[in-house]
Amino acid sequence: MRTQVAIIGGGPSGLLLSQLLHRKGIDSVVLERQTRDYVLSRIRAGVLEWGMVELLREAGVGQRMDAEGIIHEGTLLAAQNRTIRINFRKLTGKAVMIYGQTEITHDLYDARDAMGGVVIHEAEGVTPHGLDSDAPHVTYVKDGTEHRIDCDFVAGCDGFHGVSRKSIPSSVLKEFERVYPFGWLGVLSETPPADDELIYAIHERGFALCSMRRADLSRHYVQVPLTDRVEDWSDDAFWAELKRRIPEHAAQRLVTGPSIEKSIAPLRSFVAEPMRWGRLFLVGDAAHIVPPTGAKGLNLAASDVHYLYNGLLAHYQDGTPEGLDDYSRKALLRVWKAERFSWSMTNMMHRFPDQGDFGQRMQESELDYLEHSTAAQTALAENYVGLPY
Ligand code: FAD
Ligand code: DHB
Repeated sequence: MRTQVAIIGGGPSGLLLSQLLHRKGIDSVVLERQTRDYVLSRIRAGVLEWGMVELLREAGVGQRMDAEGIIHEGTLLAAQNRTIRINFRKLTGKAVMIYGQTEITHDLYDARDAMGGVVIHEAEGVTPHGLDSDAPHVTYVKDGTEHRIDCDFVAGCDGFHGVSRKSIPSSVLKEFERVYPFGWLGVLSETPPADDELIYAIHERGFALCSMRRADLSRHYVQVPLTDRVEDWSDDAFWAELKRRIPEHAAQRLVTGPSIEKSIAPLRSFVAEPMRWGRLFLVGDAAHIVPPTGAKGLNLAASDVHYLYNGLLAHYQDGTPEGLDDYSRKALLRVWKAERFSWSMTNMMHRFPDQGDFGQRMQESELDYLEHSTAAQTALAENYVGLPY
């Protein structure tokens, strides 16, 4: 088989890149290790920056998002029974969209099907070759038979545990990492959201977040020690802990119900540089991970896709190499700013085992500053709605 761009990974970045390219007549093949049902069952992000909203529209997959997504013009930060509202619209002129990653992936698969896009599921042993030559290719095994795809470029959209990043020689790749001493226990439930907007709650027992997907579907999180297992947490225990950590008015109104998904995600900051090696381009979680505080993971994957898509477009349509040559530098500039924001939100809102009294006072004073300074609120809002591409 031959294609222009071989895309490893059929998560949101791989599917979105392939969809955007196809609409401009650029051919790609997506290789995904898992089944389609598995990819569609993953519950992950829920807050879209406006840049991502516009990119999805540009890809022709914005219709259901525009009909069913919920626009949020602000968010609530709560601590010690005071609540600060960050007014995105007033401070930045922008807003975010609540629409689940699961739904986006769904819409992208539907769009790929409708256009006859090639997505090969259950592709085992996917391996890129000749990435530092002019003629790369990718091999994989499907149903016991080995296949080969020749291509111009390889897009590594295969997440943190994928094969793409590992294909870059260690002498070239530099990795930066911070692992946090806690995780987030997340519960999805068919219950109404705790409030009209998200509530980020800071509490001495640990961080909590009230989020949502729809008017009848809620997503909540509580900070837990890394040693906790999902089996340790009954639904009742989860709701009781959440209620302790969120403001009283929200706890009183909170409607609880059975969980339909429950999982623990560890928190990590990670960046790999460069994001290009030869004819390989790393995109999304393959190159970087942020802790979820601030909802940047999926949105960063989208901005990478934007830069790579435009670089490929310039290469194929105008024969100009600058976009691709500048991909890693441009993407990383935005990645590091989102890393900084996610790290600072995580530091401000979580209880760290070793933070001590000094650390606690630092958090309190940061919040107090935020409450009384329009400049501080603007900085938070500007990052939350998304820095420009
Ligand atoms: P992925 O979604 O990881 O997709 C990569 C795809 O590549 C997968 O489908 C995988 O099966 C496939 N793949 C992997 N290896 C191979 C291989 N060798 N060959 C072929 N295919 C392969 N972000 C937020 O903003 N908010 C959140 O609340 C949030 N929660 C999260 C919870 C969890 C548990 C995790 C893991 C992430 C969460 N994120 C969240 C981050 C967000 O979901 C990711 O940033 C986003 O999924 C990145 O998209 P991606 O396409 O780059 O990678
Ligand atoms: C969600 C996750 C986040 O990390 C966040 O900051 C906001 C919302 C969510 O899953 O809805």
